[in-house]
Amino acid sequence: MTATNNDFNGNGKSPLIETSKLCKSYFNDELETKVLFDIDLTINKNEFVGIMGPSGSGKSTLMHILGFLDHHTGGEYLFHGKHAQEMDEDTLAKVRATRVSFVFQAFNLLPRASVLQNVMLPLIYHPTIPASERLERTKKAIEAVDLTDHSDYLSNQLSGGQKQRVAIARALVTEPEVIFADEPTGNLDSASGIHVMQALQELHSNGHTIILVTHEQATAEHADRIIELFDGRITKDTSKFKTRKAKKEDSLKK
Ligand SMILES: Nc1ncnc2c1ncn2[C@@H]1O[C@H](COP(=O)(O)OP(=O)(O)O)[C@@H](O)[C@H]1O
Ligand SMILES: [Mg+2]
Repeated sequence: MTATNNDFNGNGKSPLIETSKLCKSYFNDELETKVLFDIDLTINKNEFVGIMGPSGSGKSTLMHILGFLDHHTGGEYLFHGKHAQEMDEDTLAKVRATRVSFVFQAFNLLPRASVLQNVMLPLIYHPTIPASERLERTKKAIEAVDLTDHSDYLSNQLSGGQKQRVAIARALVTEPEVIFADEPTGNLDSASGIHVMQALQELHSNGHTIILVTHEQATAEHADRIIELFDGRITKDTSKFKTRKAKKEDSLKK
């Protein structure tokens, strides 16, 4: 695979993520555990992709590699046409701070900090967003997940669903190109889970690229495309070909 400077492929879509024969092994005391095998994947801007598969199939590992939290050990990974292997530590730090965000099952909020403080956190050391814009951007992100009324609450005063929406606002505040969500509804009751998925759906409608790991079929239904992993290999990759507009109309009907 060759890197291109051209943002568009033949479909008129922009590839954001491209992997070719991507592999991952973990090494513990010289013992190699192979976890991902020959992953060939292209994800375009503004896609909403669900990654499904049983526990241990490699979903989180794949997501961590695509989001630059971990390194692959074979094959190629290109982000915006740039080889991940060729990025030095400074570039990787900048990519992590500005272009990708994560939402985890366990929320990972600071418990004694307010909603506002939690959401603002990624802006404090942000390399390009000026301090003068922090408050306004933070308020906008909180508004996007419908928690403006709770801005001054401490995060440990919130319900699970509210906490996860704070985590989504925190992921969103840097306006990253892609938001990775790893089992974001895994710790929630079904009503809160639906509310969280609506928040992600809304981000997608506004043009964000979302990559969602889940093992729940109902949660995966929100995605336009579902990639299934089994024992570290892609076994299925299906698209729904539903336009964003049609989906928005659907959600208004509900
Ligand atoms: N740090 C690690 N060292 C060794 N093996 C690991 C490590 N992290 C994950 N694994 C193994 O990799 C496989 C895939 O794990 P993971 O990506 O977490 O799967 P999933 O998210 O689909 O449940 C599992 O067999 C797991 O035990
Ligand atoms: Mg996992």
